[in-house]
Amino acid sequence: MTIANEFYNDPKVKEAKKLIKQALLNHQEKITGLMPPKDEKSYQELVKKLSQNRGGKLFYDYIGSGFGKGPFVELADGSTKFDFITGIGVHYFGHSHPDLMEALIDGAISNTVMQGNLQQNTDSEKLIDLLLTEANRYGADLSHVVLTSSGVMANENALKMAFQKRHPADRVLAFNKCFHGRTIAVAGVTDKAKYRDGLPEAFCVDYLPFYDSNDHQGSIDRMMCALAGYVSRHPGKHAALLCEVIQGEAGSYLGNKEFFEILFSECKKHNISIIVDEVQSFGRTEKLFAFQYFELDKYVDFVNIGKNAQTCATIYRGDHKPRPGLISQTFTSSSTAINASYYVVNQLVNNGFLGKDGKINKIHSYFSSKLEELHKKHPDKIEGPWGIGAMVAMTLFKGDMEKSKQFTFKLFENGVLSFIAGQLPTRVRFLVPAGAINNDHIDEVVKIIDQTLAGM
Ligand SMILES: Cc1ncc(COP(=O)(O)O)c(C=O)c1O
Repeated sequence: MTIANEFYNDPKVKEAKKLIKQALLNHQEKITGLMPPKDEKSYQELVKKLSQNRGGKLFYDYIGSGFGKGPFVELADGSTKFDFITGIGVHYFGHSHPDLMEALIDGAISNTVMQGNLQQNTDSEKLIDLLLTEANRYGADLSHVVLTSSGVMANENALKMAFQKRHPADRVLAFNKCFHGRTIAVAGVTDKAKYRDGLPEAFCVDYLPFYDSNDHQGSIDRMMCALAGYVSRHPGKHAALLCEVIQGEAGSYLGNKEFFEILFSECKKHNISIIVDEVQSFGRTEKLFAFQYFELDKYVDFVNIGKNAQTCATIYRGDHKPRPGLISQTFTSSSTAINASYYVVNQLVNNGFLGKDGKINKIHSYFSSKLEELHKKHPDKIEGPWGIGAMVAMTLFKGDMEKSKQFTFKLFENGVLSFIAGQLPTRVRFLVPAGAINNDHIDEVVKIIDQTLAGM
């Protein structure tokens, strides 16, 4: 028994945690739904000051108070809003979740704020073990995990390991419209000129067309034709394919099992490592990982997670193990985030979220059936695709970017947080807090979407 064990089991610590939880629940009783602002003037000053100091206008006039209840977030003006975007896919259990808070307290009262490559605690080991077990649940062969501090770093680490293994191959394959993050190297892969404006190029990237659900065979043929062109033009030069199997930032595009099987098999033939970027899709389909949803277990060399996972990680195959010196970080993550991550992943796996009849699918089918009703009511204003699982998307005004953006601002004013994604068409999406919502919340949000659309 360590002193740490004795400390965590000390009745005073347990009592303190109980009291905090009780206080939280007592104060949460005050949140009964959407609430108007109490102090607009000083809030606007706060927003102005934050915008100025951070060097750019906030997308929404959003500054949180640090409190909430499930899908409701309290802003610093005392108002509450429905948070259906969750920091672009992070706050899976909504705001001020009592049990998640307990996990956070465990991290907060541990000896260090941050953990890193040199010094990690037992909670890191426990999390890594859980991630490996779950990543290999359906037959993948992933042996190692590097925890890291952001989604882009998970991608960056995977790319470095793939380049080292495949040296001297120095090119990367990716998909049109992909988003993988914004370091200098990875911004060079992310398929958006604006995001690499003024940056030097770290390596060459060749882009493949993504899956088109309206043209199954045609999209396989086009992808294979582009791939054949690249590998014959640059033989032996591609180290890795970096891909999302569900494109989030592009505007919610779903991949397909056969499409990826054909692509991944061809990559294997050419010794191209397969890196699946699940920073956004992790925990949002009926399987924990979207690569498992598409049954691509035997192909993956790297799987990178972030957002929902609360910490970020590169999970990789043993034959891609880097030589000493390539991968290391002062911060792997904070002790609070590591404890939160274990809580979230464990809940996802063991508390009815996954599977055909799991909570994620139930939320999706209820939400999309309600959006379908709105489509019938406003056929020119709102159309599917509706996305997948806990990634819900809609096309408004035929995908017009300006109008979609205006809609999100109006929706915010009316009490719901959403966000735009993609261009041509632009979509409006929700990364819902699946661990915090029920059908009543969805009904209320859909009512607000309806009113907002009617007013435009
Ligand atoms: C698929 C994907 N990869 C990587 C990233 C980058 O993650 P981060 O912003 O944590 O670096 C994102 C962020 O939206 C993402 O959606």
